[in-house]
Amino acid sequence: MDECGSRIRRRVSLPKRNRPSLGCIFGAPTAAELEPGDEGKEEEEMVAENRRRKTAGVLPVEPNDSEVDMFGDYDSFTENSFIAQVDDLEQKYMQLPEHRKHATDFATENLCSESIKNKLSITTIGNLTELQTDKHTENQSGYEGVTIEPGADLLYDVPSSQAIYFENLQNSSNDLGDHSMKERDWKSSSHNTVNEEPPHNCIEQPQQNDESSSKVRTSSDMNRRKSIKDHLKNAMTGNAKAQTPIFSRSKQLKDTLVSEEINVAKKTIESSSNDLGPFYSLPSKVRDLYAQFKGIEKLYEWQHSCLTLNSVQERKNLIYSLPTSGGKTLVAEILMLQELLCCRKDVLMILPYVAIVQEKISGLSSFGIELGFFVEEYAGSKGRFPPTKRREKKSLYIATIEKGHSLVNSLIETGRIDSLGLVVVDELHMIGEGSRGATLEMTLAKILYTSKTTQIIGMSATLNNVEDLQKFLQAEYYTSQFRPVELKEYLKINDTIYEVDSKAENGMTFSRLLNYKYSDTLKKMDPDHLVALVTEVIPNYSCLVFCPSKKNCENVAEMICKFLSKEYLKHKEKEKCEVIKNLKNIGNGNLCPVLKRTIPFGVAYHHSGLTSDERKLLEEAYSTGVLCLFTCTSTLAAGVNLPARRVILRAPYVAKEFLKRNQYKQMIGRAGRAGIDTIGESILILQEKDKQQVLELITKPLENCYSHLVQEFTKGIQTLFLSLIGLKIATNLDDIYHFMNGTFFGVQQKVLLKEKSLWEITVESLRYLTEKGLLQKDTIYKSEEEVQYNFHITKLGRASFKGTIDLAYCDILYRDLKKGLEGLVLESLLHLIYLTTPYDLVSQCNPDWMIYFRQFSQLSPAEQNVAAILGVSESFIGKKASGQAIGKKVDKDVVNRLYLSFVLYTLLKETNIWTVSEKFNMPRGYIQNLLTGTASFSSCVLHFCEELEEFWVYRALLVELTKKLTYCVKAELIPLMEVTGVLEGRAKQLYSAGYKSLMHLANANPEVLVRTIDHLSRRQAKQIVSSAKMLLHEKAEALQEEVEELLRLPSDFPGAVASSTDKA
Ligand SMILES: Nc1ncnc2c1ncn2[C@@H]1O[C@H](COP(=O)(O)OP(=O)(O)OP(=O)(O)O)[C@@H](O)[C@H]1O
Ligand SMILES: [Mg+2]
Repeated sequence: MDECGSRIRRRVSLPKRNRPSLGCIFGAPTAAELEPGDEGKEEEEMVAENRRRKTAGVLPVEPNDSEVDMFGDYDSFTENSFIAQVDDLEQKYMQLPEHRKHATDFATENLCSESIKNKLSITTIGNLTELQTDKHTENQSGYEGVTIEPGADLLYDVPSSQAIYFENLQNSSNDLGDHSMKERDWKSSSHNTVNEEPPHNCIEQPQQNDESSSKVRTSSDMNRRKSIKDHLKNAMTGNAKAQTPIFSRSKQLKDTLVSEEINVAKKTIESSSNDLGPFYSLPSKVRDLYAQFKGIEKLYEWQHSCLTLNSVQERKNLIYSLPTSGGKTLVAEILMLQELLCCRKDVLMILPYVAIVQEKISGLSSFGIELGFFVEEYAGSKGRFPPTKRREKKSLYIATIEKGHSLVNSLIETGRIDSLGLVVVDELHMIGEGSRGATLEMTLAKILYTSKTTQIIGMSATLNNVEDLQKFLQAEYYTSQFRPVELKEYLKINDTIYEVDSKAENGMTFSRLLNYKYSDTLKKMDPDHLVALVTEVIPNYSCLVFCPSKKNCENVAEMICKFLSKEYLKHKEKEKCEVIKNLKNIGNGNLCPVLKRTIPFGVAYHHSGLTSDERKLLEEAYSTGVLCLFTCTSTLAAGVNLPARRVILRAPYVAKEFLKRNQYKQMIGRAGRAGIDTIGESILILQEKDKQQVLELITKPLENCYSHLVQEFTKGIQTLFLSLIGLKIATNLDDIYHFMNGTFFGVQQKVLLKEKSLWEITVESLRYLTEKGLLQKDTIYKSEEEVQYNFHITKLGRASFKGTIDLAYCDILYRDLKKGLEGLVLESLLHLIYLTTPYDLVSQCNPDWMIYFRQFSQLSPAEQNVAAILGVSESFIGKKASGQAIGKKVDKDVVNRLYLSFVLYTLLKETNIWTVSEKFNMPRGYIQNLLTGTASFSSCVLHFCEELEEFWVYRALLVELTKKLTYCVKAELIPLMEVTGVLEGRAKQLYSAGYKSLMHLANANPEVLVRTIDHLSRRQAKQIVSSAKMLLHEKAEALQEEVEELLRLPSDFPGAVASSTDKA
């Protein structure tokens, strides 16, 4: 796409003063990006949805199956015009507070401590744990009576395990909270775990000694570079009093050393010798940073062997598979750092969910700052398309599956795909999961087809048919069974616990009888003995209870608390009060009544019904041990690093479907995370009737993963073909067929679709797209016998492709927008909101007719006119509300869509999810998903309209609407919320503490933040500051790059060649 063109559009489309940020208002996250497993739907619905998808086959699916974000931010209209940016920069500099003078440049912070190299030592805590367990067992028999919850017949309901805990409590010092905290801290700094590899496996490379000489050698180069940078900055900001960053001398010297080491490493890599740099070809500083930031001192043996594989050294594609918590991420990160620092290429890391992307951004920003590369977020509403071209430093893009796809598309379109040196895919097994899997497959297939130099690395704990994947990715395979913390698997049937034992005849052996004392009431309320099981662990250790549905999570949390002794209330009482206070703050004074009852006991539910703010807060409280029990849905499975001594699966079901082996492995894999826990165990509770199926579950191999490219018709193969042709990757039938041969589907076609050949499928899909008016076919007669079919994209096709519109809806969208032009009501936002309410959410909506009627009656005449234009009359809703028969046929989809628009409209007016949730009697998590889904779809519709002349009028309107929907908060909080990990609640706190802009945050002192902001941990504070520094630096760099671009003589300038030859 023409860059100038897009710039002009951007400038027109957004007033610069209020612009939220460079490239950040495009497309809020889809439900799929946001939530593992349940994709934001009720679990039951999810299953139904899956079924619908399966039955869709290769026919177009019903228009209710959309994830709108696959290409959401593509060709963004980001307002990164130079004038707007310089103006903005000027403004920001003018606003700099006094204390800015004292602040240090982001590069000056000295985070690297030399002492770290020698500091960390290995401690074993196994003995202590044993000791404690013994003590528990010893005390068990001696226990009698504890203080119990009020309510007469509950007096004897406390299981013996609780009693032991409280007896210990009474015996030990009163300061239990501190004690357990110490224990946690201590645990997290110890790295030797029960079955950890002995130290001889580990790599200890000598430190570089000649530090001083290398510092002297390169410091002048460094200064030269810095002065060019300063010069540019000055030129850019003119008289705007730009402050030259203050560089500390020691920092400069350290940077010099690092860049020297990088040069050596670069040469090593270039010479492809086996002689590795100080730390896997990387500067020794990387090793120090891992010790400092992550507490990782030595690599596991497998990590070393994997990194030194010949195939890895030769940059071949690689798939590796290890059990959960095996430490897969570190290997990928080292390879990414090699690529960024030594090979000087950009890197894309694809992770499954927004929350995991954000966690990674926070974790790697400090590495970026220390080592000099950018960490850029491509998730939810963040990300710039095409990405900024960097002058010197390289970028690490961390993306969700959808945003990763958009990014690759935009790199292909702008001819920059070769700048991507490495693509890492975490949780590679997701390639076999629905439309998200299809999107991942398309992304990888496009990279394989268009770039011969981009290396692909995929990892997972749950892969079975690796050969297929290897064939698709042309990759080597590495695997090991290593798990640093042993995970013991148990099953519970009635009151017996069995250990999963692969050597035993039926896969399990008797372990113990549950030792508990249950009253009749408790037996009735808790037939599965959950209270007994959790109280063996909490509150000193953490426990996750996976439940089949959201409602069940809440019920179980409440039930457990009902039977917990009052003593639990005392554990970390103050901290728990803080959590409640903070939850109230972020909910504008509202607090979920269930959480209100459970948090005092250290218990909370965790599912997609929580708002993101609540979720973040609860996770933090759980990580720090303030909360000790989460009842959760599968939303907490893949890749999550939370402490859990014990994971309990309340039933072998997810919603109503029986658990798959992959899901089971991912869930139990949350127990015993290295560096957090030293032991891990899982208990699956089952009923007699499920015994046979469970025995199969624990013994059978993992499920194979299969391509969904063709099954997900409109979101799979059709979208793929449209983009192949739109991006000119392949435009004729032969090339497209050739491309299809290289896909994962191509590898598995014979298994997946026996009755049709790949050629037939390709021809059929192209024909379908042509008939739908999205493609046009040109027949070229090459000779008398030879005919070639070329395809080009139509305007509607391009609009759908640029807008990432699910092809099932593109003609409906066109029709609705066209109809809107006939009489768009602009007196309020309602009509526009209606036009951007996602189609795929409509089918799941069941209006409460009384509420509908009430809301309708409160509308102004102009607003009611919107309903009339859409064909929804007050009398219709009135009749529905009073249960009368309806004579006239009314389009149900329109009525439901309008109802959702009412919800959104109210939300935009009131900006308080809680009151809207109450008004419409909908869960707040659902409302938030509706909002983010609509923000995303609104940006998609905008891109759709940008490609179609007749919709020019919508463009300006939708820019503003997208912004309103994306943030739905007061404008002043937007700059703070751009920083990864800062959500609305935190932004409010920071704002009222005086941190009003990105610069304030980037220059903040984490220690001061911890003191002044409630419930902010040191780790969080550091991450916020690092992320803010990274973002600020990125923005400044982007402006500098634009300045260079502007000052550069165009290559096609008349006489440019002649004059440069003259000069020479
Ligand atoms: N060499 C090491 N020494 C100590 N701790 C390590 C080492 N490597 C990784 N870890 C720690 O182990 C924990 C689990 O690692 P990681 O998240 O990479 O697991 P994983 O293999 O990706 O598991 P999953 O499949 O569940 O995502 C992390 O907290 C990580 O910091
Ligand atoms: Mg992982």
